[in-house]
Amino acid sequence: MNRVLLETRALRKAFGRVQVANALDLTFEAGVITSIIGPNGAGKSTLINMLSGLIQPDSGEIFFMGQQITRLPIHRRVKMGLCRSFQVVNVFPELTAFDNIQIPVLAVLGRAGRLLIPLRGETIAREEANAILSRVGLLHASESRATALSHGDQRLLEIGIALAARPKLLFLDEPTAGMNPVERTKILDSIKRLSAEGKTTFVIVEHDMDVVFSLSDRIVVLHHGDIIADGTKEQIRESSKVREVYLGDEVDE
Ligand SMILES: Nc1ncnc2c1ncn2[C@@H]1O[C@H](COP(=O)(O)OP(=O)(O)OP(=O)(O)O)[C@@H](O)[C@H]1O
Ligand SMILES: [Mg+2]
Repeated sequence: MNRVLLETRALRKAFGRVQVANALDLTFEAGVITSIIGPNGAGKSTLINMLSGLIQPDSGEIFFMGQQITRLPIHRRVKMGLCRSFQVVNVFPELTAFDNIQIPVLAVLGRAGRLLIPLRGETIAREEANAILSRVGLLHASESRATALSHGDQRLLEIGIALAARPKLLFLDEPTAGMNPVERTKILDSIKRLSAEGKTTFVIVEHDMDVVFSLSDRIVVLHHGDIIADGTKEQIRESSKVREVYLGDEVDE
């Protein structure tokens, strides 16, 4: 019943002599919120970089919705519905929140030829940008410059920018990094709400275990480029291997 969105086969990447992806076989299914966790340098960002097309694997294959995408450039993957956000915030600081969203919306509509309809095209873009601002809880800040937003709201704006591409699968690299608890809760609630809408499947890389255990349907644990565990929250909590290399006492009562 579950639908596979993305699949990797024997994905490998080394930097010099260090293996950071060691023949990774992974599948991501629609509607399942997955967290990728593991110690610093485990290869989490590298994995997302390969899946999103920022870097090329040394070998192995990546399939998205059944199509081979291993060597497709980023923009082709985005067009298919495979998107990501970065570990550091990436917005146009001097533009308003609205413009930050409207620019990618216009790009998507332009590609679809819908902007060729005079006036109507602009209205569609405006409505869509506002709808996205509302979905990420930023409608009230529509006219604020991005740089004036709190760190948490900038992160939400980034998610909004990614949503403009209408992603089927969205990777978020440390979406709550550097946030205070209030901001963190807001991001968490937004991701849960957006996931429940059913349009976008979220895969996040995250260090904060409260976030991971609150959000995830599934957790994948990486260590030195290997998958050392892959399962439900309960399975990960009970895994002695995961405790040994990563969680330690963190999940103890
Ligand atoms: N472009 C690069 N060139 C050389 N080495 C790299 C490069 N990118 C990453 N590495 C190395 O590969 C390993 C994995 O890095 P990666 O960024 O994937 O880890 P991570 O799991 O995301 O860690 P963190 O939790 O600190 O973000 C690290 O040892 C890192 O130093
Ligand atoms: Mg990283």
